Amino acid sequence: MADGKFITFEGPEGAGKSTQLKLCAEYLRSRNMEVITTREPGGTPLAEQLRGILKTHSGDEKLHPETELLLMEAARSQHMRELILPALERGCTVLCDRFYDSTTAYQGAARNIDRKLIDDLNLFASGFRKPDLTFILDLDVESGFRRAGKRAETAGEYDRFEAETRSFHLRVREAFLAIAAAESCRVKVVNAEGTPEEVFERIAEYLNELWG
Ligand code: TMP
Repeated sequence: MADGKFITFEGPEGAGKSTQLKLCAEYLRSRNMEVITTREPGGTPLAEQLRGILKTHSGDEKLHPETELLLMEAARSQHMRELILPALERGCTVLCDRFYDSTTAYQGAARNIDRKLIDDLNLFASGFRKPDLTFILDLDVESGFRRAGKRAETAGEYDRFEAETRSFHLRVREAFLAIAAAESCRVKVVNAEGTPEEVFERIAEYLNELWG
């Protein structure tokens, strides 16, 4: 059986990745495809424990950028080998909410860690399996902040990344756009303005191209 397709959803905070991932899963399932949805950091019990540390660690002991990078990659390594690669081998389509382009944007561009090191770790952790298609849901930082801010108020939870400065998030957005420019076959920028249905129409065009 042919390997399944691996599709990732990226973008700044509040761009609506999770909603689009859900709509995408419904769409593909309605075409009788076997689909699993997952997320990073996380996706397995062990990787979800690392997610908890990465998202909400606070207190006197600082979580250093280098440690953050290695924990992200550790979570990814576990997630790939435990869940994603076996699912792809079974012929499942895997939809993942964030993947290694987030490491390039957040730990690379925004935290300023060496790009070559990040590229090497991304490939090592992912077992050299690249996504077949990546959507970058693009939204200006202010709109993303407003949406993410509302979400945080509702959830009532401290989030280390959402608490970062505007200039941090500007660097994240610029980095995503640069990745898309450098890898235009794999990475598609999708305007995240509009209703979820309007945004999904933009995504569906690329899905139809992928499956012909
Ligand atoms: P989210 O799933 O709610 O988007 O939260 C995940 C957070 O983790 C988000 O702020 C981006 C961040 N992140 C990184 O910094 N590096 C990574 O490699 C990944 C996967 C996520």
